Amino acid sequence: MIRVCPDYETLSEAAAEHIRSVGVEAVRERGRFDLVLSGGQTPRRAYDILAERTANDRSLWENTHVFWGDERCVPMNDPESNYLTGKRALLEPARIPRANVHPITARPPDEEAVAESYAQVFPAAPDLLILGMGVDGHTASLFPRSALLDESRKRFAFCLAPIEPKERITMTPGVIASARNVLVLVSGAEKAPALRRVFAPQGDLHETPARLLRHATWLVDGAAARELG
Ligand code: 6PG
Repeated sequence: MIRVCPDYETLSEAAAEHIRSVGVEAVRERGRFDLVLSGGQTPRRAYDILAERTANDRSLWENTHVFWGDERCVPMNDPESNYLTGKRALLEPARIPRANVHPITARPPDEEAVAESYAQVFPAAPDLLILGMGVDGHTASLFPRSALLDESRKRFAFCLAPIEPKERITMTPGVIASARNVLVLVSGAEKAPALRRVFAPQGDLHETPARLLRHATWLVDGAAARELG
């Protein structure tokens, strides 16, 4: 499902409501909401709105467990850390209990071991993955032509990205397939060509990894959608 919102603010409002409703339903049905964050700037406004509207919903946040779909191999207090972004934008404002937060501690030198042990703590069927897409069509840290696009054994793996910071740990396609819900947020005209390639009837996953997300819920703004037919 792809929904085009007039602008970034409306997209963020819709995303905040989507996250809230999936979370409330997961807690109602299973007593726990397993939420997976990605990096990137696009979800930040949605997190602000979400935290503003729900900070007092303690039954939601006390039963929410937060994971990451990818991480850059930088210290956890580095501005490039996906954990730090999530902490500032959502974990602190929503007052999510520390014990419910499960970061990828992507320390060198043994990133493969970190990836392997993260796969052990990561839920088998997370309730919601929140993902973005880069201008080159990457999602999480699955970049065009990455061998990990064909990985079927490991759930998380170390990779070298073509952009900085290069060293990363990322989930693999099987994790995306295991999620109960996937929400993709895309804003800005510079992403319009990649978005067109995602929804083109024919296309190559190795050229546009976000084609893995064609079944997801997409919230995109008008600028990003301008090349869609
Ligand atoms: C990362 C990401 C990455 C991100 C996209 C979109 O760690 O870099 O997980 O996949 O979500 O690059 O980023 P923006 O929202 O900043 O455009």
